[in-house]
Amino acid sequence: MPGMWRETSPGDQASPWASQDPFAAPVFGRSVWKVPEMLVLLVHLFRFLARLIVLAVLHPVVTVAVAGPVVLGVLAGWQTAGVVTAVVLALVAGALGVWAWRWPGTFTSYVRLPGLARWRWLSLYRRFWQPVMTMTGLLTRRGEREYLPRIRKVTCTAWADRVLVEMLRGQAPSHWEDQAAALAHGFGAASCRVRMERPGRVWLEFPRGDSLADPLPALPVPDETDLSALPVGRREDGSDWNLKVHGTHVLVAGVTGAGKGSIIWSAIRALLPAIRAGLVEVWAVDPKRMELSFGKPLFARYAADPEDCVGLLEDAVERMQKRATAFAGKVRTHTPTIEDPFVLVVVDEVAFLTAYHPDANGVRKPVKNALATLTSQGRSVGVGVLAALQDPRKEVLEIRNLFPDKIALRMDEKAQVDMVLGDGARDRGAYADQISSLPETGAGAGYVLLEGSRDPGRVRAAYVSDDDIDAMAAEFTDGGHA
Ligand SMILES: Nc1ncnc2c1ncn2[C@@H]1O[C@H](COP(=O)(O)OP(=O)(O)OP(=O)(O)O)[C@@H](O)[C@H]1O
Ligand SMILES: [Mg+2]
Repeated sequence: MPGMWRETSPGDQASPWASQDPFAAPVFGRSVWKVPEMLVLLVHLFRFLARLIVLAVLHPVVTVAVAGPVVLGVLAGWQTAGVVTAVVLALVAGALGVWAWRWPGTFTSYVRLPGLARWRWLSLYRRFWQPVMTMTGLLTRRGEREYLPRIRKVTCTAWADRVLVEMLRGQAPSHWEDQAAALAHGFGAASCRVRMERPGRVWLEFPRGDSLADPLPALPVPDETDLSALPVGRREDGSDWNLKVHGTHVLVAGVTGAGKGSIIWSAIRALLPAIRAGLVEVWAVDPKRMELSFGKPLFARYAADPEDCVGLLEDAVERMQKRATAFAGKVRTHTPTIEDPFVLVVVDEVAFLTAYHPDANGVRKPVKNALATLTSQGRSVGVGVLAALQDPRKEVLEIRNLFPDKIALRMDEKAQVDMVLGDGARDRGAYADQISSLPETGAGAGYVLLEGSRDPGRVRAAYVSDDDIDAMAAEFTDGGHA
């Protein structure tokens, strides 16, 4: 019965009306003013129409697609409208088909990815935004009011969805980084990376599938070596991952079987033309005798016995210092020549020499000193160090901060990621501890601070097999350079 319902509805009960005069007798009345139903309906109708007009203006293509046939139907009859619409639809579909077939690149960037982005925004991000924000605590409530961060834009790249978010005032990217795992699960992605766009806004990056899941075979040897960009693998977005070795030093860290060898060998492979031309020398330090012994003919110097390793490293220091004296006051940067080639000192498992070897004075100390000298002074005189390491703790390699470029392959613990890539790298998306331990999917995969970015990028090195190395060495020996 309407009467009964009215009496129990909230705000309907009689309550004392507020009065300025404290001595006035209380006046009772309803605390809610009743708006006539018609007026409410009218306001809603008006709002609906206003929204419809805004939508129609914002989406002219949809407006024409819907309104066109209707107008045609009214003017020229519904049968004609049906035929014309079918013909237009067939023409549009045909044109899109031809576009996709003939020019797949532009079709992908102008039609497929924007369409996918719209679909993902509607079906995923907009749909689950509020529940995910609530569960992650990124939404705030003050009394009845709810403050929800807003999605500004959703775009799709070939491998990931990117969601631009306007944070609430008072939020920082670190609040979002803390919730990265929850955000990833909430939106059905394997991971979520948070990147700052500008103050107040962050991009959330959700990879769709894993673009680096399949092993990458050894890359072709380039015709010419570019020491500032050796092709060694692929980035997550499908582009080439190039490694700079001249004018820097590179540290590769990862547990056993993480694929450190594939980075070392991919780099050496890309150096082959310059090695052949006499512009680059690789000096190999191989205390484990496993990794580098295959390619001995390619190296200008090779050492495996700890004492020999010390000798090799000290020779490298001496060579560097001679060069520094010769260059002093003449040149400030080194250009590789046949007389002064670029020397890349490759050290596999440095901890074997810097931490595990029992002889402190005969091996550990001299190796540490030599590496510290090379990494702190070798950059501008054409001596580079590429070192591999299983355990990134400070005791193991005190000089890790002297390596400007670091690569984190699979790690056992979260904390090790920051030890290699620097504080906060894991929070910014370098999940090296989550890389699969299956060699098929995880070996050679890692995170690296790519040039021009403060955020770590995911990469995978190409796998240079033993046969590839044999072939490289054989070809080199045949070339008469042994
Ligand atoms: N880039 C790669 N892609 C696919 N598989 C790889 C890749 N690199 C290595 N593997 C596989 O993983 C195995 C271990 O790799 P690798 O020997 O390079 O590891 P590592 O990090 O050098 O380990 P260790 O510290 O024990 O020397 C290889 O035998 C190979 O099967
Ligand atoms: Mg190895």
